[in-house]
Amino acid sequence: MACRHRSSTTTLARLAKPARLTPRLTTQPQVQSQVAPAVRCFSSSRPSQLKETRCQQGKFTSETYPGLKRDPRYGQVTKEHVDYFKGLLGTESAVIDGVTNENATDDIEPFNSDWMRKYRGHCRLVLKPSSTEEVSKILKYCNDNTLAVVPQGGNTGLVGGSVPVFDEIVLNMGRMNNIIEFDEVSGILTVEAGAILEVVDQFLASKGYIFPLDLGAKGSCHIGGNLSTNAGGLRLLRYGSLHGTTLGIEAVLPDGTVVDDLCKLRKNNTGYDVKQLFIGSEGTIGVITKAVIQCPQRPKAQNVALFGLESYEAAQQAFREAKGHLSEILSAFELMDGASQALVRQVTKKNSPLEGEYPFYCLIETSGSNSDHDGEKLQAFLEDVMEKGIVADGTLAQDETQVRALWSWREGITEALGHLGGVYKYDVSIPLAEMYQLVEDTKARVEEAGLLGDTDEHPVRAVVGYGHMGDSNLHLNVSTRRYDERVEKVLEPFVYEWIAKRQGSISAEHGLGLAKKKYIGFSRTPTMVGLMKQLKDLYDPNAILNPYKYI
Ligand code: FAD
Ligand code: MLT
Ligand code: ZN
Repeated sequence: MACRHRSSTTTLARLAKPARLTPRLTTQPQVQSQVAPAVRCFSSSRPSQLKETRCQQGKFTSETYPGLKRDPRYGQVTKEHVDYFKGLLGTESAVIDGVTNENATDDIEPFNSDWMRKYRGHCRLVLKPSSTEEVSKILKYCNDNTLAVVPQGGNTGLVGGSVPVFDEIVLNMGRMNNIIEFDEVSGILTVEAGAILEVVDQFLASKGYIFPLDLGAKGSCHIGGNLSTNAGGLRLLRYGSLHGTTLGIEAVLPDGTVVDDLCKLRKNNTGYDVKQLFIGSEGTIGVITKAVIQCPQRPKAQNVALFGLESYEAAQQAFREAKGHLSEILSAFELMDGASQALVRQVTKKNSPLEGEYPFYCLIETSGSNSDHDGEKLQAFLEDVMEKGIVADGTLAQDETQVRALWSWREGITEALGHLGGVYKYDVSIPLAEMYQLVEDTKARVEEAGLLGDTDEHPVRAVVGYGHMGDSNLHLNVSTRRYDERVEKVLEPFVYEWIAKRQGSISAEHGLGLAKKKYIGFSRTPTMVGLMKQLKDLYDPNAILNPYKYI
């Protein structure tokens, strides 16, 4: 599956072992059969298929969070309720009914458990509406009967927000997946919330445009899920956040009211920009049903280079130089530490694209309109950083297959970690200078507690860091052989306190969900949290949407 476009006229260059003062930029023969397939493109949108090769299903969230109790305000789902939904949605496949049918448990399981297999609910009813009107009727009915609802997109969220805790109804948006309209002059796209990001991007590719968000879960995640988490992804550096590229939204409030703000204008300063509240609100105040997105022109030329570096200091210098040399064509600057790459090697059994091993790696992508022009700029940058001794070794992709192969060393980390057991994930924003120190301090703490080691009695396998360096966004991941309360106690609130001391954010892009609900105070003041609670009460007075999470 082709994931990235790249002009075939771009020349290949391989940075062989560095000759510091006279860098050797040689051409490397293209050996496609040796390039492993990219890890990034998931084959399917169904959560169950995504997980087939991953770790075994874990405990129920109600067991791992014994302090969480089912809120007695919410009604139990009965046969009468199920009959109403069956009458409303009609087709068999639109209702997965585990209330009146005991044999439906297996069919419901993929909607109950999250991508990491860390959170697992007790839902017995999944509803799959096919129109805004159906969403509206479902929510109104649930509101009137105080039935709790969890909106769900592609279920790739990483903070436990997309699955129920107890017996909340899952409202899965997968059937609302139409591309409604695309204006080829303005690049403005109107799309239903359940459309899969990769499908939308492929449609846009056929029109010469690109979706302004790209991430490793693109083969499964939905546009509605992306907006609800305000996903950042790999090219935020270039295209900005969804808060900027989303022009309009249609959403349904818990009482069934349809908020039609499908504005197609870039400029619209008419009153409060209410749609922004739905972006990043993780399904707590309404269900997004449609969106209008401003899509940029698809770049004609894309170049990707991967470097090995001897220190984090060097990675910062490389970033500074990349901005200086590449300015408007720089579209991604990603960081991976040596430990994260070792785990990818272990899981994929692939050979590293560089000869040696380094404590740090950076992946740089340029996107522009002129392949020769971009190639020259990148070449000049590479020569400069090698001459200055900033970069120790590097390689430049020569065609789309190699572009994907290099990207797989970055995007494959999440998947590799998932294969190795449990993962404690921290997605944080910290000023660049101190960003990697968090990984080192966390590793030291876990080591001190005697939890890190190569043998089975040690729950922790590795402490790794990677992320969107261009956005000061670090992913600190503690890879474990199994989820273990002792590990969590050593990590939390330590990590959050560390971040708060540096005025960082405890959630740069993945959101709060259940995982970070109780830690919001480390990044937001009591006044801000108070305002958020007021908004929640205003939009969802009966608190039926995504309970137990967010704030
Ligand atoms: P879900 O997981 O189904 O839901 C996420 C949240 O949004 C839940 O709270 C849910 O209730 C709510 N929601 C979903 N749809 C709607 C709707 N229509 N209306 C209202 N609420 C809704 N995130 C990043 O930011 N950057 C990355 O680079 C990135 N890479 C990833 C790579 C991998 C391999 C994986 C597994 C995840 C990654 N993520 C990343 C995390 C995840 O946030 C994104 O994958 C994505 O935005 C979630 O979309 P989804 O459709 O799967 O939403
Ligand atoms: C990424 O950048 O790879 C994603 O946000 C997922 C992750 O943090 O593992
Ligand atoms: Zn990320």
